[in-house]
Amino acid sequence: MRDANTRFAAWFNRVTPKGLYPRSLLIIVTPMVILQSVVAFVFMERHYNTVTRRLSAAVSQDISAVVALYDLLPKDRDFTELRRVAWRNLALNVTVLPPDPLPPPGPKPFFSVLDSSLSREIGRRIQQPVWIDTVGRSNLIEVRIKMDDAVLRIFAPRNAAYASNSHIFILWMVGTSLVLLTVAILFLRNQIRPIENLADAAEAFGKGRDVENFRPRGAREVRRAAIAFLEMKRRIERQIEQRTTMLAGVSHDMRTILTRFKLELAFLGEGPETEALKKDVDELAGMLEAYLAFARGDPGEQTALTDMAALVEDLRLNAERDGAIAEASFMGPPLVEVKGDQLKRCVGNLVNNAVRHASRVAITGTRDARWLMVSVDDDGPGIPEEKREEVFRPFLRLDDARNQDDGGSGLGLSIARDIARAHGGEVILADSPMGGLRATVRIPV
Ligand SMILES: Nc1ncnc2c1ncn2[C@@H]1O[C@H](COP(=O)(O)OP(=O)(O)OP(=O)(O)O)[C@@H](O)[C@H]1O
Ligand SMILES: [Mg+2]
Repeated sequence: MRDANTRFAAWFNRVTPKGLYPRSLLIIVTPMVILQSVVAFVFMERHYNTVTRRLSAAVSQDISAVVALYDLLPKDRDFTELRRVAWRNLALNVTVLPPDPLPPPGPKPFFSVLDSSLSREIGRRIQQPVWIDTVGRSNLIEVRIKMDDAVLRIFAPRNAAYASNSHIFILWMVGTSLVLLTVAILFLRNQIRPIENLADAAEAFGKGRDVENFRPRGAREVRRAAIAFLEMKRRIERQIEQRTTMLAGVSHDMRTILTRFKLELAFLGEGPETEALKKDVDELAGMLEAYLAFARGDPGEQTALTDMAALVEDLRLNAERDGAIAEASFMGPPLVEVKGDQLKRCVGNLVNNAVRHASRVAITGTRDARWLMVSVDDDGPGIPEEKREEVFRPFLRLDDARNQDDGGSGLGLSIARDIARAHGGEVILADSPMGGLRATVRIPV
């Protein structure tokens, strides 16, 4: 039972539209259509059928009166008396034909209340064989009755037997609902646009883009959500700013002390014991320099359309200059809305790592409707699976022992991840088919 329930819910979710706008429209339109269908059905079934039946009954009563008159009145040559009474008093056009057999019954109209109810009513009142044609002429009904010595042909006006103006009711109904629907669509548009704007703003902020001229608008709840979003955005921005200034302050103060250190070391003069100390101080200064650059991180660069194919080619040239065998390719529309310099630094760090650890480097960019991805493959030693999270930590270097003097401070991957996340994306490490590491930057577009 519960299983069926969830299956139904899943199916229902699948078939109903996903957007808020079509959903709200559906909520308005469905009851309207159902209501109108029910009203139309009841009207047709009850009112219209009853009226038609009554009218048919009246016509068949008139016809049976004509039949009775035919028996009563003197049978002169052309039945003037009968025809006059029928025409003047009953609006029926009567002709008396020779007693030929009745024509075979004509084709029944597929859906006609008139035909069935008229046949039924006439059949109830007249015993003689009857032939009815409701289709042949547009506004007349033809009825033939076989008497003993003649055939009576009677034309009755169609609208005397038939509630014919019911389509006006339907016309009114459909017309009114169209007007109401248009009004509803216009109003709904205005209600939904602020929600769409809020969604766009939140998405843009998540991707590190500017949220320009976004103001809370619309219904009270939507406005509340928008205000909350703006508050949250302001808090996050303030927090980032605070972090940056604090780190910069700390680094700056420490640099002042380090400079003093170096000065004092210089006064101590050359010697084996100061040599090691000097090296340590230099390293510390280098780390601090890198840290300062990291802390300065996001100097408020604005997003702009950036040619990713050119960026990838640029990085390839840099890699070759640094002595690697490099290839690069880009697939998809290359213009992407990102912070160009930052992203170049991000992918550049990955390329630098590859160049430092391997001899061959491949940079592959792809861009589809949802993601921009740039992968950097190399044929170096790679990073073991269990270390792949750890290496993102600032100042962490796996190959400390191997090449301490290489100038690496262990910030490259941290900075790359920072930039990718500021774009709403991520840096992912994996095995490369080339044998080394594959580092992929993935950013939503
Ligand atoms: N392509 C790679 N192949 C093998 N090991 C790598 C690769 N990329 C990074 N690593 C390992 O991850 C560690 C961290 O890399 P990260 O880029 O953060 O720092 P770094 O390269 O040592 O210094 P920096 O990038 O600041 O100059 C490196 O020390 C290295 O051991
Ligand atoms: Mg690095």
